[in-house]
Amino acid sequence: MRVANVLVADVLAELAVLVAPGVTTAELDAAAERLVRAAGAEPAFKGYRGYPATLCASVNEQVVHGIPSSRALVEGDIISLDMGVKLNGFFGDSAVTVPVGRISDEAAALLRVTRESLDHGIGQVRPGGRVSDIGHAIQAHVEAGGFSVVREFVGHGIGASLHEEPQIANYGEPGRGPRLAEGMVLAIEPMVNLGRPAVKVLGDGWTAVTRDGSLSAHFEHTVAVTKDGALVLTQRSAVGGGVRV
Ligand code: CO
Repeated sequence: MRVANVLVADVLAELAVLVAPGVTTAELDAAAERLVRAAGAEPAFKGYRGYPATLCASVNEQVVHGIPSSRALVEGDIISLDMGVKLNGFFGDSAVTVPVGRISDEAAALLRVTRESLDHGIGQVRPGGRVSDIGHAIQAHVEAGGFSVVREFVGHGIGASLHEEPQIANYGEPGRGPRLAEGMVLAIEPMVNLGRPAVKVLGDGWTAVTRDGSLSAHFEHTVAVTKDGALVLTQRSAVGGGVRV
């Protein structure tokens, strides 16, 4: 699990430094697939329920599952890069939302609060804890920041399959759901909207967008439950001159 997830982290870090005005999301997808295959791994999303690409590239009001295309990024956009791999029979999964050049203060706050909410969720991971403690912590931080949590998509267990039990909602009451135990591996992935929480899926059957057209951000880490708490398997080291992605 560690090897697959470190690969995901490394590829996302490489993609993040490619993000710039004029770059297309298809170019990012091609780079992702090349890097994954060069490492001897396979894209986990490509072919999953018919998903056509290695990367989910979700721009601005796109929440998740944006299909890479000839769309060129523009200064001021935000883009979620979400990628999974399969390596030696095990899956890795992580996502990061990055700015394209200079972004508005409002967009920057959305990225910061979403990333922080993931940290708060991860902070709840310990043996004996409950699954809903994670979502409760995420929701509390997001709403304190004035943003809203997407309800329709959830995090998940991960291992020899991309999606395993339990589902991990990003909201709810604490103290509910299965107990966490040492050795479990979880993909925790808050999706946070600047405006209202409602989303809809476009006619392509994949791209989820905010109903009100507001910006949306998404961060995801795969973490292992250890006796000392969470071990983040998709931790990204600083690249590109110390940009924290
Ligand atoms: Co995931």
